[in-house]
Amino acid sequence: MRIAVIGAGGQLGTDLVKVFGEYDCLPLTHQDIEVADRERCYEVLKKLAPEVVINTAAFHQVDACEDDPGRAFMVNAVGAKNVAEACLEINATCVFISTDFVFDGRKGAPYTESDAPSPVSTYGISKLAGEFYTRRAPKHYVMRVASLFGAAGASGKGGNFVEAMVKKGRAGEKISVVDDLWMSPTYTGDAAGLIKKITEAKMPSGIYHVTNSGQCCWLDFAGEIFNQLNLKPDLSPIKSVQLKQKALRPAFSALQSEKLNGLFGVRHWKDALTGYLVEKGYL
Ligand SMILES: NC(=O)c1ccc[n+]([C@@H]2O[C@H](COP(=O)([O-])OP(=O)(O)OC[C@H]3O[C@@H](n4cnc5c(N)ncnc54)[C@H](OP(=O)(O)O)[C@@H]3O)[C@@H](O)[C@H]2O)c1
Repeated sequence: MRIAVIGAGGQLGTDLVKVFGEYDCLPLTHQDIEVADRERCYEVLKKLAPEVVINTAAFHQVDACEDDPGRAFMVNAVGAKNVAEACLEINATCVFISTDFVFDGRKGAPYTESDAPSPVSTYGISKLAGEFYTRRAPKHYVMRVASLFGAAGASGKGGNFVEAMVKKGRAGEKISVVDDLWMSPTYTGDAAGLIKKITEAKMPSGIYHVTNSGQCCWLDFAGEIFNQLNLKPDLSPIKSVQLKQKALRPAFSALQSEKLNGLFGVRHWKDALTGYLVEKGYL
């Protein structure tokens, strides 16, 4: 199998390149390809002629997307369109990495693939548009991931939540974390492994929720990080409204997969966190 990974230098992208290493895997960094540039996109993908293209590229700073909706749509929607149309031309399977932020969070229970999306932020709206463009390609997967933590750290966000907590915890800082936003913490190594299994198994085209199992609020996530590291910082809850962030966030955006339904065995996020802390040499 010949697979191109767009966003290969990113948090999820590096793990995708690792797990697909046994195949003919073509890592494409932002220097190699600009998804918003239709001509360049076509040129690069046509030349490489992969059978599968995984598009992890995104403008995913959620608050910055509110300030710059043009860029959000160029990368997350038009970029997805360009990649999907190039895939159609070269007869490749198009894999788009999407997000739990396509939901409004009002369900109060984990979202499955059959739940109707209803994004509340520019980021979520632009990613949902990217999903629709991707779904126009006959062979496609929309893989929704959430609250990622991976060894490389998100290039667009300058790290990840676990790293930020480790740094603050070790520095003995007073730490406040929101307790009213719930999600599915997901290790990029595990997400990449699941994406590989779905692709290898040639599952039917469509949407798949690709997260670790279980859910928690960000405060509990922080608490578990400190628990596993045996750190006891001054950790206190705050409400999301106190952060005065530009973008609305879904209050409960945990995902689960009714399509995979345990098919490939997904770890609980606490076990995945242990895996991450070991990989980073913290444990
Ligand atoms: N991080 C999360 O918690 C989270 C949660 C839900 C969904 N997601 C989705 O998961 C995917 C991967 O996230 P991540 O955390 O791995 O992000 P990341 O570390 O920022 O990786 C994204 C990669 O895409 C590249 N890129 C950005 N804009 C591009 C463009 N216009 N053309 C080509 N390449 C471009 C970036 O390169 P440069 O840095 O050099 O620009 C970066 O290497 C994204 O699609 C995101 O929407 C992430």
